[in-house]
Amino acid sequence: MFSRLAKPQTANVLGQLVKNFSTTNAANRKVAVMGASGGIGQPLSLLLKNSPLVTELSLYDIVHTPGVAADLSHINSPAKVTGFVGPDQLADSLKGCEVVVIPAGVPRKPGMTRDDLFNTNASIVANLAKACAENCPNAMICIISNPVNSTVPIASEVYKKAGVDASRIFGVTTLDIVRANAFVAELKGLDPMSVNVPVIGGHAGITIIPLISQASPSVEFPADQLKALTERIQDAGTEVVKAKAGAGSATLSMAFAGARFAFSMIKAMNGEQGVVECAYVKSDLTEATYFSTPLVLGPNGIEKNLGLGKLSAYEATLVENAIAELKGSIKKGENFVANM
Ligand SMILES: NC(=O)c1ccc[n+]([C@@H]2O[C@H](COP(=O)([O-])OP(=O)(O)OC[C@H]3O[C@@H](n4cnc5c(N)ncnc54)[C@H](O)[C@@H]3O)[C@@H](O)[C@H]2O)c1
Repeated sequence: MFSRLAKPQTANVLGQLVKNFSTTNAANRKVAVMGASGGIGQPLSLLLKNSPLVTELSLYDIVHTPGVAADLSHINSPAKVTGFVGPDQLADSLKGCEVVVIPAGVPRKPGMTRDDLFNTNASIVANLAKACAENCPNAMICIISNPVNSTVPIASEVYKKAGVDASRIFGVTTLDIVRANAFVAELKGLDPMSVNVPVIGGHAGITIIPLISQASPSVEFPADQLKALTERIQDAGTEVVKAKAGAGSATLSMAFAGARFAFSMIKAMNGEQGVVECAYVKSDLTEATYFSTPLVLGPNGIEKNLGLGKLSAYEATLVENAIAELKGSIKKGENFVANM
């Protein structure tokens, strides 16, 4: 009788001890969300506020952040929330931040490509990157704003111009991995939480390259099904844009993916070993000078780039076909900053 009761109690006490002394809860982490009042920004801020990994949450936007911050600050979780609104408060919103997540900018409407957002979002990201370089040069910068294939090179060039190390700038492609995991799990009847499909390349159309051959657990599909699955992952964003019929693009799934990436980053900064996420970063692995691959994250950002791994013939063709588009998007971003 007693032994049956004692076991779970011991487990609870141990669990509590592990929780109390866990390195992931130990450090103070100040996180900023730039574009915090938007479709992604609000649910992303909610997920960050809900996590014990975040001790301070700084919310910046050009509108509505006082309301979003007041609302979130009533949640009884530890993170202290402060809202900043408008360019006059931009610098203060970034001071002391260690992780900055950027979903600021306009989303797609039906019929638009991510590149169609360039004209508006390029200058938004460039301005925010400049403010980050000036106010939190050591922070990890996680860029969600599209077109990611160009906005990451833009932020990096802005950092270079400011004489700041650009190696802590990451393009967030986590939603592609989340989608690939969900779709593979659905097709194979697996637990979606247990599936991991690396997705490499970039974050637009044919530059999104799911590596189904490297999925864990291992899965196989006939060629026609593999092609359909790959194309569904590549076009998944457009699936949401069409379904929302003019009301924007993926926001809730992106908030989930953005929070996952931010949490991985914070865990790695806190010293947790073996934290791996794919992200679009400066790279010398292919002819494209920015390329997403799985990265081991550490206290200083990228600890190790795990590379492309062993590709199937089909995946190798997908990589080959993506390079020209990636190179064009990178050049476009770099030229934009050169002409600023
Ligand atoms: N990386 C990805 O996987 C992914 C997925 C989905 C969407 N996105 C992109 O994320 C971006 C945001 O999407 P959304 O649905 O949240 O859009 P949204 O229009 O709902 O929100 C954008 C927010 O940015 C704010 N903003 C505009 N200019 C700003 C500035 N200069 N400084 C700070 N904030 C500013 C707006 O006020 C708004 O609150 C879009 O570019 C979209 O394409 C990326």
